[in-house]
Amino acid sequence: MSDLSTVEANRIEMQSRLDLAKSQAERNKLGQFATPPDLAADILDYARSLFSPETPVRFLDPAIGTGAFYAALLRAFPASQIAEVVGYEIDPHYGQQTAALWSDTPLRLHITDFTQASSPDAHKATLLICNPPYVRHHHLDSAEKQRLQAQVWRAAGVRLSGLAGLYCYFLCIAHEWMADGGLAGWLIPSEFMDVNYGEAVKEYLLSAVTLLHIHRFDPDDVQFDDALVSSAVVWLRNEAPPPDHTVKFTYGGTLAQPRITRHIPVSRLRAARKWTQLTSDSAPASQTHLRLTDLFTIKRGVATGTNKFFILTPAQIDALQLPMECFTPILPSPRYLNADEIHADDQGNPILDRKLFLLTCDLPPDTIEARYPTLWGYLQSGVAAGIHERYLCRHRTPWYAQESRLPARLLCTYMGRRTEGSKPFRFILNRSKAIAANVYLMLYPKPFIAGLLDDDPALARSIWETLNAIDPEMLTGNGRTYGGGLHKMEPGELGNIPAGDVLALLPHAVLLI
Ligand SMILES: C[S@@+](CC[C@H](N)C(=O)[O-])C[C@H]1O[C@@H](n2cnc3c(N)ncnc32)[C@H](O)[C@@H]1O
Repeated sequence: MSDLSTVEANRIEMQSRLDLAKSQAERNKLGQFATPPDLAADILDYARSLFSPETPVRFLDPAIGTGAFYAALLRAFPASQIAEVVGYEIDPHYGQQTAALWSDTPLRLHITDFTQASSPDAHKATLLICNPPYVRHHHLDSAEKQRLQAQVWRAAGVRLSGLAGLYCYFLCIAHEWMADGGLAGWLIPSEFMDVNYGEAVKEYLLSAVTLLHIHRFDPDDVQFDDALVSSAVVWLRNEAPPPDHTVKFTYGGTLAQPRITRHIPVSRLRAARKWTQLTSDSAPASQTHLRLTDLFTIKRGVATGTNKFFILTPAQIDALQLPMECFTPILPSPRYLNADEIHADDQGNPILDRKLFLLTCDLPPDTIEARYPTLWGYLQSGVAAGIHERYLCRHRTPWYAQESRLPARLLCTYMGRRTEGSKPFRFILNRSKAIAANVYLMLYPKPFIAGLLDDDPALARSIWETLNAIDPEMLTGNGRTYGGGLHKMEPGELGNIPAGDVLALLPHAVLLI
């Protein structure tokens, strides 16, 4: 084999060539985001610090890509200690060239689906390092989920929720590939530490193996590529945990020199619902992630004061002969929206069965009286009915003025119930110039994203799909729940949701801003 640095330089060049030959969507589907070489080196150096120099290394990477970890293994461990190296890669696009690159080394590469491979009876892995594909559950069809769930149950005795991403299945399935006492380091999203689907994974980590250390990177360091913004490295040993075991939790800095270190007893971990908060100084850890509020200004829709008076149908406007220029299209309540994407006609009005318009005129009364007698008459009917005395109207000048809101491309419903097959909150892609009432939250992209959206119309759709794919548990966990299972979410609560998945859609350069 040529010297290690030449092979590594060739590998890095090959990685970017292979990545560029695929679209972002194709890479998302198989979770194809390579580990940066420096991080791979840190991880293998750390592995060596936990690994006995007397134990032969039988190395396994179940999702090897071009072999970022293998390259780092060859540098971190003496060749004499490396007894066996096995890799799996589902995609021949990467697999074939990886096989060629490492052909004169001990790597045994299987170009096939790791989750369907049979684990060996003997010579199991003493060192497993993996950055598994981060594929969200929405991309796994239900037959595939059932197969994976059965496999996880067989391999590790874990019952995984259907909301778990592919990385959770990898972690559990790999259990039966590990030698007794074997060491594993998993570079995975830190999400499992806080969400409901992560509970089974956490229980596995606390009972079936000895959880040694979880290091969480500080996303604000922005030292990683897009897909790794909120990652953690989970270190475990395949043996029963000792009594009174404590786990090292670190945050920020590097694996070897973290910014925050805590040693937490298993009993406390069992009781803690959100593990990411365990390493925070004072603020919840979620506050150190970039959140939706860093990407969007989120406002509640318009509170009209009296919808019946201020929001009219075209037929009512017509019958009262009111001036159309004093009205702005407004979306009907979410229950009248059959689809979550709203198209517009050539005037920008939403194409919907239920068409509504909000009276948006704040001209002074005498101007209205002179210019729009019919509207003046309508406002007088409001005064006669006492509308101008209602709380919101009383606090506005003139009383019929409305809060000003521009149309928002993205909206979220403000409240809802969780029923079979439906989510409590829906994100809406609004291609019309309609604004919205306070049954919606309006998401206005911050200027650096607004520019990107103008340049790339497909991006709005991807962001919308990603928002709709946010785990409902995460949304309801941040909002409030009322009797009868009614969930509500205020702008600040929506803003508090981690923005990792949306960030992953943005060009890397944007993250540096
Ligand atoms: C996050 S990348 C990591 C690649 C490499 N280990 C690294 O760290 O740079 C995950 C890799 O797993 C591969 N992959 C996805 N699904 C797989 C499966 N079911 N079995 C084996 N490999 C898979 C992808 O093609 C991709 O190359």
